[in-house]
Parts: sequence; structure tokens; C-alpha cells
Amino acid sequence: MANQDDQFKKVISHAKEYGYVFQSSEIYDGLSAVYDYAQNGVELKNNIRNYWWKAMVQMHDNIVGIDSAIFMHPTIWKASGHVDAFNDPLIDNKDSKKRYRADVLIEDYCAKIESKLNKEVAKAEKRFGEAFNKEEFVSTNQRVIGYQTKINETLSRMAKSLENEDLADVKALIEELEIADPVSGSKNWTDVKQFNLMFGTKLGASADSAMDLYLRPETAQGIFVNFLNVQKSSRLKIPFGIAQTGKAFRNEIVARQFIFRMREFEQMEMQFFIKPGTQKEWYEQWKEKRLKWHLSLGLGEENYRFHNHEKLAHYADAASDIEFNFPFGFKELEGIHSRTDFDLSQHEKFTGKKLQYFDPEENKSYTPYVLETSIGLDRMFLAVFSKALEEEQLDNDTTRTVLRLPAVLAPNKAAILPLVKKDGLPEIAQQIVEDLRWDFNVVYDEKDAVGRRYRRQDANGTPFCITVDHDTLDDNTVTIRHRDSMEQERVKIQDLKDIIKKETDMRFWLMKM
Ligand code: GAP
Repeated sequence: MANQDDQFKKVISHAKEYGYVFQSSEIYDGLSAVYDYAQNGVELKNNIRNYWWKAMVQMHDNIVGIDSAIFMHPTIWKASGHVDAFNDPLIDNKDSKKRYRADVLIEDYCAKIESKLNKEVAKAEKRFGEAFNKEEFVSTNQRVIGYQTKINETLSRMAKSLENEDLADVKALIEELEIADPVSGSKNWTDVKQFNLMFGTKLGASADSAMDLYLRPETAQGIFVNFLNVQKSSRLKIPFGIAQTGKAFRNEIVARQFIFRMREFEQMEMQFFIKPGTQKEWYEQWKEKRLKWHLSLGLGEENYRFHNHEKLAHYADAASDIEFNFPFGFKELEGIHSRTDFDLSQHEKFTGKKLQYFDPEENKSYTPYVLETSIGLDRMFLAVFSKALEEEQLDNDTTRTVLRLPAVLAPNKAAILPLVKKDGLPEIAQQIVEDLRWDFNVVYDEKDAVGRRYRRQDANGTPFCITVDHDTLDDNTVTIRHRDSMEQERVKIQDLKDIIKKETDMRFWLMKM
């Protein structure tokens, strides 16, 4: 755990030091759970968005993109169920006056038991060495069985109480488990209440005529309400998809873990409209497709797993998360939801307008079912960034900090370095920059010894360093150094473009899907 915390602290400080992510309003002591993307961060974020857009929209004949407004008619959120059901169960501590999510307090309690359980297993593993059989140990050791039973019973009681809206039992559970306020240690709790996560705002100049609006908590509804407009203007036939990326807002109560859970964040969502009855098949197909997209980036197959939901959101008949191994453990990165015809039917009900599709093959009209894929761009950023950061042990007993970002996503593809600041080398390096910048983001760096510049670019995630030296003056060749292997080779200036393109082109990466 301590190790994970340390690694996570390194990720956060590296993101700041190298111009990826800053705390919002930092000089005013910051705004909690709101972050700004800095000069490198915005490039990485744009590249992730483009990588998703390419795979989801541009590589599919039957998926198109839109960009709907953040402000939407307020009744949309009544129809979608967000006004009534988009809630978190909250509890206040009367002594510390701190507010918590009741379910998170209970989950944290279970996580502590789980870490005790893991310690027992680690101890036994150490004791028995090679002869250790983990499966047998966890199914026979009485202490471990006791811990696991406690976790299972607690979580299933909590799920049942939340499902039945029995908030009194959620409070009773917190009291029975003797859960204390993590800040003050007090066990003096209020009742549990539901709290809506949508941010409200007003449209209009005068107080009496102003209309109450919400900032959208998901981009999906902008797609549903445009379903017929897009279908008619594009003449797409079912099955087809509509995708969009954009900001979403949630008044998260427990907003922590850096950019993992923010109050203002960005989603990349795709709604796939299908014939009713085919949802199981599409659900499996999209789960597989989306996992392949993640794997194409080469962050390690072992860092992903599916988590199928038992408790389903109000709109879904099946749902699964792709979880990623973040520095704080496996957590949701993307959701794949079989949303039935819930949203379109609700909008039909609230508007009195038909949102149906005439199927020429079936010769009848129906309200399509929807399969959704929904990923947080900021979470994807954190996944990529945290897995890329490494303190590498080198042969000569030194270490280097290297940010092994997939080259296709790296903010800068190459740094161009004149060996010295004289003899015409900077001029050649600048010429290379001017030429390459038409195709790639590149930087020029002439400050410090070349070894230090290499290290700086390693830590910045730049896949290539190109060094111009005195031989360049004679033969028009340069040294190209690869970030990951640190290998160097001599190449012709005119070949640079092809070499960089080969490793940074989306085609090369997405072909692996
Ligand atoms: N349209 C479906 C939907 O919004 P969700 O599971 O609530 O489903 C989808 O959110 C994705 O959005 C999540 O898997 C996560 O990656 C991202 N996300 C949700 N809340 C977030 C938050 N507060 N901060 C950052 N990302 C968030």
C-alpha cells in the first residue's frame, strides 16, 4: 500500500513538474477536484481523443460523430432519470462536520479487511516458500475465510439496502461496523440522505424569467435527443452509431485520486443503435472491441480486467466495466452498457414525439435498442501516464526517469538537439525543426550538455532525440536516439520523416487491434 501511495505521489508530482497537469486556480490555493491541463498535458489529451475518434468514428462506415451543446432543455434530465435517480448516499459526521459517501465509508472498511487478508497470504507465502499453494491456503485458513466472509456479507448487505433505498439500514450498518470518521475518529453520524450529483445553473437575465438548467452529467443524452436528426440527415441504417466527446459535470462528494474523479471532466461516448433482441450479441462484440482498442496501446494485458455489474443502473439490462490497474489498484476506466430502449422511449414519452426507425428489411418501425461505450478521457490520461512513468535501473548503477508513453500519444514526437551552440549546428537543427513540424510536434533544445537533454526528453516522454553534430556538416547525417532502448543510430536527415512516421502513425498502432 505504501508503495502504491509513493508511486501515485510520483505520478502527480511528475505531471506538475513536466507540464502535464496543474491544480486549477493553484495561486488561490486550488479548487478541489478541478484540474488544468498544461502545455504537454493538452497535447497528450488531444492525442488520446484523436486516437479514440479515429478508431470509433473515422474507421467505421456506420458510426458518425456529433458535438452537442452542454446546455440542454432541463426536461431532458427528468426524462433520462437523472433528476430522480442520479444520487449518491451521503452521511455527515456531527463532530467534524465532514461529509462522506456512505457507500465509500463501507467500501473503505472492507478494503482495510482485504489488506489484512492479503497480509496473511503474504506471510504464509514467505513461510512456505515454493511449496505455497495460494488457492488451497485461502480456502482452508480460518482467519482468511473469516475476513472474506465479513467482506462478502458487508458488501452484499450494503448493495441490498441501496437497491431497496433502505438508507436507515445503511446507517445501521455503519454503526454496527463501528466505522469512525477518518479525520476525527468520531462515530457521531447523521442519517444517510440521497444527494443529487447534477450542477444547476440559470439561463436568462432576470430572476423571475430565468430558467433552471443543469450542466450535463453525461454526453450521452445529447446523442439520444439528436438520434432522428442524425439518422435522417445521414440516411444510416441500423445498426449504426453516433459518437461524441465533450465535457460533463458532476458534483462528486468524494472527489479524490487526482484526475480519476473530477467535478468537471471529459467523456468519449458512443451510442450504437440496434434492433431490439440483438443487444446480447452487440454487448459481447463491443466489450471485445473496446478491450482490443486498449490493448493496442501496449500498456500490458495484465493491467485490464472486466467487472460485470450485478447492481444495474436504472437504464441498463447488462453492464460491464473495463477496469485498469491504476497506481491505487484496479478501478473503472470504461463502461459498456446495454441501455435497452430506455432513453429513446423516455424522450418519446416526455415529448410526445416518435423516435422510431423504419426497418426496410423487417418492413416495420420500432424504437431501437442502444449499446453504449463510455470512457472518461481524463481517466484514460491517468491510465496511460501512470503506467508510462518508470524509474529505470541502468547497468551502471544509476537510474533514469523515463515516461514510456506510447509513441502515437506522446506530446512531442522528437527533440532536435545541436551538440554545441556554435559552428552552424543550431542553424541545421532549426532547419530540421522547420521541416518536421509540418508533420509532427517537435521541439528544439540547446540548453545543457547533451546527456542531460536526453534525460529531460526521457522524462518528458519524447520518443526520439535527434542530435546534430560536426559530422552532419560533412555528410548530412544525424544521430537518432530511441527513448525506450536508448539505442542510437546514424541516419540521413532526409530519412527522418519516414523513421518517425513509422513509429508514431496511428495506422501502425490501430492495426494491432
Ligand atoms: N453515459 C454513461 C455514463 O456516463 P458512467 O459510468 O457514469 O456512465 C462513464 O461514466 C465514464 O466516465 C466512466 O467509466 C469514467 O471513465 C468517466 N467518469 C465518470 N465520472 C467521472 C468523474 N467524476 N471524473 C472523471 N471521470 C469520470
